[in-house]
Amino acid sequence: MSPSSSQPSCEVQILNTLRDANGKPVSGRLLGIELGISRAAVWKRVEGLRKSGYQVESYPRKGYVLVAEPDTPTAEAVSSFISRDVLADGLFAAKKIQFFTNLDSTNVYAGKIARDGALDGTVVVADCQSKGRGRLGRVWDSPSGVNLYFSLILRPLIEPRYAAQLTLLTGLALAETISVAGADDVEIKWPNDLLLGGKKVAGILTEMSVEENRVQFVVVGVGINVNVETSDLTPQIGKIAATLTGHLKKKVKRSAFLADFLNRFLGWYRLYLAKGFAPIRSIWLERSRIKGRWVQVNLVDESFSGVAIDLDVDGFLLVKRDDTDKEARVLAGDVLLLKKDC
Ligand code: BTN
Repeated sequence: MSPSSSQPSCEVQILNTLRDANGKPVSGRLLGIELGISRAAVWKRVEGLRKSGYQVESYPRKGYVLVAEPDTPTAEAVSSFISRDVLADGLFAAKKIQFFTNLDSTNVYAGKIARDGALDGTVVVADCQSKGRGRLGRVWDSPSGVNLYFSLILRPLIEPRYAAQLTLLTGLALAETISVAGADDVEIKWPNDLLLGGKKVAGILTEMSVEENRVQFVVVGVGINVNVETSDLTPQIGKIAATLTGHLKKKVKRSAFLADFLNRFLGWYRLYLAKGFAPIRSIWLERSRIKGRWVQVNLVDESFSGVAIDLDVDGFLLVKRDDTDKEARVLAGDVLLLKKDC
């Protein structure tokens, strides 16, 4: 890792210092000393921040005050909230975050640039998507200015059959982030849903490219209903969706939320690469509380119900079917949590 890849840009450093000052003016001289640049150069960077939507007031002989921040998850905004330790790790370096006002789908774009050699840890974020994709060919409603849509490009040295484990790992990091944001009743539903009050608040779509039984890259796409009002979603989606703002009764800062997710994801991902799926599996099971629950499993060619008895070592769901009494290993498909508990 080169030192420059983990070093936040001057703008981000100014932002952090002004934030830490909590409304007290910070002089251009002090900022200049901190960054090793002239006062004129500081002024230029502050102008850059203003152009990106940050409201920075300047008071003669006192300095700069950060008055308001935009809520767009740009690379600058997100990286300013990523912890120093995570930036130092290098996987999610500031320069690897690519923000777009509009994309068809962050997963599609991430797949394209991954094929062209984009680095491990590249994060593609869009403010809105015109063709957001969900699992099983569904559409992911992606209005602008309110939610989070992003895809991670990862290049783990694993066999394709293990790639589904990354969905579970992502769900764990996402559940933690949602819980720390204040919604501690968040539930994980196998394999890729995050629920609040039984309704879907976030979904994960993992896709991969394989060559000679080796994963070339994995794209982990995440969509989260953050600040959208359910009434602004299509009626069909509005009925089954939850939103963070609706649950918490306040707006959530998207850039800080995404950075917090990346901070948490990195911890789980490093553990996974070092120790394998076993530690993720046990924590996922604890968190999802799926063991012993009645579920309905909808596959392409059949549906059945039964009791979820475990997650196997590869991350697939084991269900004891109530029609045959046999154990089914569920690899894909939809799982509905039924009311009846064992
Ligand atoms: C699902 O629950 O069906 C998965 C939804 C995944 C949606 C996200 S939004 C960002 C990324 N880009 C896409 O086109 N899809 C995923």
